[in-house]
Amino acid sequence: MFKTRITEMLGIEYPILAGGMQWLSRAEFVSAVSEAGGLGFITAATFTDPEELRDEIKKTRTLTKKPIGVNISMLPVLMEGDATRKYINVVVDEKVPVVETSGRNPESYVPALKEGGVKLIHKVPAARFARKAESIGADAVTIVGFECGGHPGMDDVTSMILIPKVCESVDIPVVAAGGIADARGFVAALSLGAEGVVMGTRFLATKECPAHQNFKEWVVEAQETDTMLIERSIRNAVRVMKNEVAQKVLEMENHGATLDELIVHISGKLGKNAWLTGDLDSATIAAGQCIGLIHEVLTVKQVIDNIVNGAREIVKRLNGIVK
Ligand SMILES: Cc1cc2nc3c(=O)[nH]c(=O)nc-3n(C[C@H](O)[C@H](O)[C@H](O)COP(=O)(O)O)c2cc1C
Repeated sequence: MFKTRITEMLGIEYPILAGGMQWLSRAEFVSAVSEAGGLGFITAATFTDPEELRDEIKKTRTLTKKPIGVNISMLPVLMEGDATRKYINVVVDEKVPVVETSGRNPESYVPALKEGGVKLIHKVPAARFARKAESIGADAVTIVGFECGGHPGMDDVTSMILIPKVCESVDIPVVAAGGIADARGFVAALSLGAEGVVMGTRFLATKECPAHQNFKEWVVEAQETDTMLIERSIRNAVRVMKNEVAQKVLEMENHGATLDELIVHISGKLGKNAWLTGDLDSATIAAGQCIGLIHEVLTVKQVIDNIVNGAREIVKRLNGIVK
């Protein structure tokens, strides 16, 4: 039913990808996405040692024979430059078919990936970075809009504008991310020219996501106004759940706090503990505005099936409108 350059490139049924989520995108969750006909990305930044990533890839492969990917986030706070090379080597070694990179220009890793036959999907927050990604040889580009959970860049432009803008700017396939939680967003993204979607926030409220139940309940209860943007002052804007730490960080930023002062509160390591313990106020936690559209905890398969079936209904409705 769904055939785009993304499904063809990755050999998957549906053009629905689960974007990398540090601490969460591990074997059980990633394999569930791939088993359901989409594709999940194990997130390298979860591991301090590249060999742990290798073990996780192997573990994931015991749970699914379908294609899986690895996310390599190159934001300085997540992963040091030298470490990135080692993680890329593991990906090539293990013949992982696709990598999602984010955070910085992956140009220096392109030759190794090409040689290893690994497809590169680079995730960017603006059309100019999408053009750059194409010029360095990325196989596809994911554009994230301002609504997204995680890093939306510094331009504050929403998916509604960015998706068509990027589609008219590059020839490689475009994947849309930021604000997509259901069939409506999926069809909208395809209508705007995307050939696939990446979702993060919607997958937080799934049975297989290893986040503590408290977070899943929070996602279900939360409204679209319950996220906020922090770390703008250090040019690392990130959309997170509106909790005590995030509000403190914003206040500190408004009073001119330095990176050294902020790091105590924004360090990614705090997130690991929060996801495990369910303490909603102990760390800054990435979450997108589409929390306002998420009303129940489902299995990954239910999320994907609902999108696929819902899309069919929407297309029927649209066909009825267009005479
Ligand atoms: C909890 C959480 C953690 C994330 N961690 C990462 C990460 O480690 N690396 C990355 O490239 N993107 C990360 N993202 C971004 C997602 O991969 C994806 O691009 C984004 O969630 C899409 O927007 P949405 O949340 O509106 O679906 C994270 C998102 C969330 C919600």
